[in-house]
Amino acid sequence: MLVQPIEWLSNKVRMLDQTRLPQEEVYLETGDYQEIASAIRELKIRGAPAIGVAGGYAIALGALAIESSSKDDFLEKFRQVSRTIAGTRPTARNLFQAVERMDRVAEAGREVEETKKGLVEEAVKIHSEEAEATGKLSRFGAELIKDGFTILTHCNAGPLATTGYGTALGVIIQAGEQGKKIKVFADETRPLLQGARLTTWELMKAGIPVTLMTDSMAGYFLSRGEIDCVIVGADRIAANGDTANKIGTYSLAVLAKENNVPFYVAAPTTTIDASLETGAEIPIEQRKGEEVTHMMGVRMTSDCEVANPAFDVTPHRYITAIITEGGIIRQPYGEGIRNLFGK
Ligand code: MRU
Repeated sequence: MLVQPIEWLSNKVRMLDQTRLPQEEVYLETGDYQEIASAIRELKIRGAPAIGVAGGYAIALGALAIESSSKDDFLEKFRQVSRTIAGTRPTARNLFQAVERMDRVAEAGREVEETKKGLVEEAVKIHSEEAEATGKLSRFGAELIKDGFTILTHCNAGPLATTGYGTALGVIIQAGEQGKKIKVFADETRPLLQGARLTTWELMKAGIPVTLMTDSMAGYFLSRGEIDCVIVGADRIAANGDTANKIGTYSLAVLAKENNVPFYVAAPTTTIDASLETGAEIPIEQRKGEEVTHMMGVRMTSDCEVANPAFDVTPHRYITAIITEGGIIRQPYGEGIRNLFGK
């Protein structure tokens, strides 16, 4: 049974608070879109596809709460809700994909009650499509994993991050379900430890052997020939294949190339932003310094200047293949991505 990070409970959502894992499994229930917006900002719900799903539900809840029978007044208030959700986190493409879909439903010119009904249906559809896409891409990606492989992954790209099978972890879990004997090295993923807290938890639940290491140990294991491939998820992929993912992904990709280890990106097509020519245009979220200076609320450092970009961009030349629900694409990515959307 895959863990469900978010569920729709007719006019409310139930979310697993990922900041409390793995110590406690605490669920939050709310019908207030502002609370979901805060949960997205605070990473209670996180991971590109899961953020998109949460964003869709938040907009639906915000719309349901608008008390107005005038279309113009409803739309004015709806736009405020939609802008709030779009302003929660800047990097994951899936969030904006979901917001744009919800906006199109709201602006379709129907009466208020009908529009509200349509928005709920659209949010539920966004959820089921994201979940389905990760199932499909996991099956494609599992073909790249051979029996006996040791795989390195970064951050958390499993069911918690996607509401479905997972992207990078989906591929790994699927290969395990096919009976392949595989092992995983999980980077702890500083500063918020998504790898240490969430990836190890999910892989242990799935019965896949996992070894935790700090981010800086990756070069050691890669250079010793102990890793057969690296698989990561993505937050946004530009039209040329450049990929934004959790900070530290770029370093891993360079190390993988230096050591002739394949480097795979797994993501649904909702993560691809074909409107951006290259990764240089991807907005990178800068988060507060306390995430670096503090651990579990305790200051670990002097009161120094802190940098905290949440993502980096891996240039497409370091990426061996991109695994999507439409199939596996390889260089040149521009052509592969165009074909994917042409399908
Ligand atoms: O800041 P987060 O925890 O939302 O970052 C998540 C990641 O970078 C994941 O690797 C990415 O969203 C891919 S998950 C399917």
